[in-house]
Amino acid sequence: MLGCRMFHVYGSVFFVTVLSKLFLSGACSDQVPLVMWSSEGHPLPRHAPPLAGHTVSGSQLLSYVTAALNSAPRNVLLFLQDKLSMDDFTVFGGVFGNKQDSAFPNLESALQSSTFPLVLPALSWPDSSALPGMLQEQLGTSPLYLDPETLAQLRLNATGVALLVFRLPYSTEADMSPRAVLSGNDEVVGQVLNIMKSQGIPYTAFYTAVRPSRVITEVSLDRHPVGRSLLQAPSNEPYPPVEFKRGENTCILLWAENLTVSHFREQWRRHELGPQTFGSSATVSLTGSSCNRTHSRLVLNYENILGFRSFRLIFAMSQRYYPVSARNWFTLDQVELEYDGQKATFNGSRNIYAPSEYSYRCESVTSFRDALLAARSPNDNASQWRLSFEEFQIQGFNVTGTEFSYASDCASFFTPGIWMGLVTSLLMLLVFTYGLHMIMQLRTMDRFDDPKGPAIAVPQNE
Ligand SMILES: *[C@@H]1O[C@H](CO)[C@@H](O)[C@H](O)[C@H]1NC(C)=O
Ligand SMILES: *[C@@H]1O[C@H](CO)[C@@H](O)[C@H](O)[C@H]1NC(C)=O
Ligand SMILES: *[C@@H]1O[C@H](CO)[C@@H](O)[C@H](O)[C@H]1NC(C)=O
Ligand SMILES: *[C@@H]1O[C@H](CO)[C@@H](O)[C@H](O)[C@H]1NC(C)=O
Ligand SMILES: *[C@@H]1O[C@H](CO)[C@@H](O)[C@H](O)[C@H]1NC(C)=O
Ligand SMILES: *[C@@H]1O[C@H](CO)[C@@H](O)[C@H](O)[C@H]1NC(C)=O
Repeated sequence: MLGCRMFHVYGSVFFVTVLSKLFLSGACSDQVPLVMWSSEGHPLPRHAPPLAGHTVSGSQLLSYVTAALNSAPRNVLLFLQDKLSMDDFTVFGGVFGNKQDSAFPNLESALQSSTFPLVLPALSWPDSSALPGMLQEQLGTSPLYLDPETLAQLRLNATGVALLVFRLPYSTEADMSPRAVLSGNDEVVGQVLNIMKSQGIPYTAFYTAVRPSRVITEVSLDRHPVGRSLLQAPSNEPYPPVEFKRGENTCILLWAENLTVSHFREQWRRHELGPQTFGSSATVSLTGSSCNRTHSRLVLNYENILGFRSFRLIFAMSQRYYPVSARNWFTLDQVELEYDGQKATFNGSRNIYAPSEYSYRCESVTSFRDALLAARSPNDNASQWRLSFEEFQIQGFNVTGTEFSYASDCASFFTPGIWMGLVTSLLMLLVFTYGLHMIMQLRTMDRFDDPKGPAIAVPQNE
C-alpha cells in the first residue's frame, strides 16, 4: 500500500526524535505482523498462507490459533513486542529478505528448524490485540508474565498447558537505535527458546506486537540495502546516469536499474530498455530533450521496440514555489510514450515530487503495482501500457556537476507537511538556543560576581 511505507531519515537524532513525535500518529499501517512456529519435531498444522496483500481478520486468526493448538504443544510462548511492523523484518531482518546481517538471528533459526511455521504479514489491528485473550480461552489457563530469568526457575510440564508471555520493548525514543532494540529482543527470544530446549519442553510460539510501528531507519550513512535514502548517489553504481546537457551544464540526470515497458496487443509483451539506455551498450538518443528554469523534459529515443519503428519515452518535470512549505518543489508531471505517431500519457504529479534541489528516488515506480503513475484518463492509450522502473532516480533541476544531489526517497519523510514541521522544530530550537544564550550572557555581565572588578563603594554616613 502506497501510504504505508517506511520512513527514512538520515539526519540528526534530534530530528528523528522530534519528527517521530510529530508525525507518527497517522492512521496508516493499522496492521501488525504475526509469526507462529513450534519447537523442532512438533509440526504445526499445514496452513495455507494468506494471499499476498490480504489483511487477516480477528476471526481468521482465531481459526489459525485453534487449528494450531489442536495438534501443536500447549505450552505457549507469546512474545509481545510494544510495536512491530512488517517493515521491521524487511529492513532489519533476514527472515524475508535473506540478508546476512539480520537483527533476528534467533527468530530466524527457530523458524528454520520448525515445521510449517506461519507468517501473517498483515493482521488487522486492533483485532490482533485479541490474541492474548484468544490464547487464554483456548488453553483454559491464565497468562504468566515472565522474563528469561524467572522462566529459568519455573518447572514446566512437557505435556502440560501454560501461557507464558514475554513483553519486549520497542522504542525509538531511547538512545538505542531500532536495530539495537530489535537485536536485544531477539536475544531474549533466543534465551527463552534455549531454556525451553534445555528443559526438554516442547512449545508453540507466537511473535507479534501490541501496536503497529513505523520504522525509522538508523541514523547512519551505511549503505543499507533497503533503507537507503537521502544519500548522495553512490559513485560505485555499475554505470553512470543518463545525462542531458544544455550547453556546458548538465541539467537532467536519470538512473535506473530497470526501465521496463510492456504493451498489450492480444497479449502482454515486455521490453527492458535498460541495456539500450545505460552503460556501454547504450544506443539511446536524447534528441528533443529540453530544460529551462521551470520545465525539464527528458526524451529518450529508441528504435524498433515491441514492433514500433520509433519509440520515445519522455519524462516531463516542472518546478514551482509552494508557499505553504516555503520552498520550491519539482514534480514528475508526466511520463509519455510516443510510438509510431501514437501517444500514451501517465500522470505522476500527485505522487512523484521532491524539493527542487534534491533528486527523487524510489525503489520501484510502476503504473500498475503501486500506481505512482496513473493513466491520464481511463480511455487513454496508456491503458495498453505498463511501465515499471526499478531503483529509479531522477533530477531535473539544480543539478551540479554530473552527480545526483541528495535523494528524497519516495518512502521518506519529506512531504510538504513534514517540511513545515521541520521548519517549526528548527525555529523552536533556535528560540530556545537564543534564550539560553541570553541567560548565560546575563551571568557573565553580573559584576557583583567579578572579584577582579572595582570594589563597590558604599558611602558611609557618620
Ligand atoms: C504433567 O501433566 C500430566 C497431565 O497434565 C500429569 O499426568 C503428569 O503427572 C504431569 N507430570 C509432572 C512431572 O508433573
Ligand atoms: C533488470 O535489468 C537487468 C539488467 O538489465 C536484468 O538482468 C533483469 O532481468 C531486469 N529485471 C527485470 C525485472 O526486468
Ligand atoms: C520553459 O519551457 C516550457 C516548455 O517546455 C515553456 O512553456 C516555458 O515558458 C519555459 N519557461 C521559460 C522561463 O523559458
Ligand atoms: C492528469 O493530469 C492532468 C493535468 O496535468 C489533469 O488534468 C488530470 O486530471 C490528471 N489525471 C489524473 C487521473 O490524475
Ligand atoms: C491513441 O492513439 C491514437 C492513434 O492510434 C490517437 O489517435 C489518439 O489520439 C491516442 N489517444 C490519446 C488519448 O492520446
Ligand atoms: C536552483 O535553481 C534555481 C533556478 O535555476 C535557482 O534560482 C536556485 O537558486 C537554485 N537553488 C539552489 C539551492 O541551488
